[in-house]
Amino acid sequence: MKNMIGVGLIGMGVVGSGVVKTIIEKSDALNSHVGLPLNLTGVAVRDISKQRSFDISSEILVNDPEKIVNDDSVNIVVELIGGENPALELILAAVRNGKHVVTANKEVISKHGAEIFSLARQNNVRVLFEASVGGGIPIISPLMRDLVSNDISSIKAIINGTTNYILTRMAHEAADYSVVLSDAQKLGYAETDPTNDVEGIDAAYKLSILSTLAFRASIKDTDIYTEGITKLTDKDFQYAKELGYSIKLLAIATQTNSDVLGRVHPALIPQDQMLAKVDDVLNAVEIETDLTQKVLFHGPGAGSMPTSSAVIADIVNIARSIAGDTDLLDPVRLSEDVKVAPISTLSTKYYFRIEVIDEPGVLGRIATVFGDCGISISSFIQKELEEKASDAELVIMTHEATESSVDRAVVGLSELGVVNRIGNVIRVVE
Ligand SMILES: NC(=O)c1ccc[n+]([C@@H]2O[C@H](COP(=O)([O-])OP(=O)(O)OC[C@H]3O[C@@H](n4cnc5c(N)ncnc54)[C@H](OP(=O)(O)O)[C@@H]3O)[C@@H](O)[C@H]2O)c1
Repeated sequence: MKNMIGVGLIGMGVVGSGVVKTIIEKSDALNSHVGLPLNLTGVAVRDISKQRSFDISSEILVNDPEKIVNDDSVNIVVELIGGENPALELILAAVRNGKHVVTANKEVISKHGAEIFSLARQNNVRVLFEASVGGGIPIISPLMRDLVSNDISSIKAIINGTTNYILTRMAHEAADYSVVLSDAQKLGYAETDPTNDVEGIDAAYKLSILSTLAFRASIKDTDIYTEGITKLTDKDFQYAKELGYSIKLLAIATQTNSDVLGRVHPALIPQDQMLAKVDDVLNAVEIETDLTQKVLFHGPGAGSMPTSSAVIADIVNIARSIAGDTDLLDPVRLSEDVKVAPISTLSTKYYFRIEVIDEPGVLGRIATVFGDCGISISSFIQKELEEKASDAELVIMTHEATESSVDRAVVGLSELGVVNRIGNVIRVVE
């Protein structure tokens, strides 16, 4: 019978510091939740001489993460270094050594979840990952446990704080993308290389995790259609506002029969929808099910203390099971019957912004292209182009159309001669 639970951390950066602080400052409350004391036995970092935001005893600070995964006194390894490797290797080594694992690593869980959970089952240990999606928002545990009797039909989420901050500022200040990105970098909301965030890759990792749990099928990041925010301009925000929409980077997964369609892309959403009001670095996940209808999880998607809340919840869950309490969180069992649907099967409404030569007959020719592609136009606005009086800009909203017909229309418009440029095509999500 154990008299304490050994916890070993790998990584003490933004999230790790919050976890250490909480374990130390809330030790009495946590110990009473668990039934045994949590003992922080070791913390691995890259540079042990670095000044930390929270002081810990130098005796437990090491620069070799192998020491944590091989330490007999560690029952739970907490991986908080991020990235694919060595994080994956360390998680697998910990599991092989019979240790439970808690991680906040969306990339590793999205790409290698199936391998990790299978190895965890063989070794009779648990791997929990609440902090990997939505930072401090409890979303993984509700999907695995609280919504278990529901059939989930869709997930609609804003799960990347960096892009939501950029889009919020572009919408409210008519600010230019590159200016706002640079501000986000100065404020620490965006990395020096922002590719993973602005190209939708980070959101695709997170959506793959959510949809794997929601639809009980292996959905990888590469199964998700992914489009970033870099093509959006201040004009898109101006016109969207005039039409009653907000623009958000949405991560959406829907299931029709046995097909799951996962997609990350900028979308026009009606301004009165709750997701349209989720601003700045906040995150929100809306789940639609047969029993609950729509439920919305909303809150801080990142940050030291919010994310540490999710990490500690996982540590306590595992620690309680070690201490002899029941643990209801079991890794999900995945179905082989669910297939991934390609983006070409999507049918939705679209917003087109097109720069054209302002001359008689142009509208008719454009309408013919849409008609030939089977797309019906619901409304359009014509705008003068300040830069060039002989040209005009058309904003066209369509009725529901298929993705493949929209692809054909884009080609048809480009070949028309009177279209100077297709400024943007954005899907509408209602
Ligand atoms: N930041 C957030 O708000 C947030 C929110 C949700 C999820 N997450 C996830 O949480 C994880 C950690 O993110 P973070 O923001 O805390 O990262 P971070 O601030 O960059 O911290 C990374 C930590 O890992 C250590 N480290 C890196 N490579 C190492 C190695 N090979 N061996 C030992 N230590 C190593 C670093 O050591 P040094 O300190 O010595 O450099 C640092 O302490 C990532 O998976 C991230 O996606 C973060």
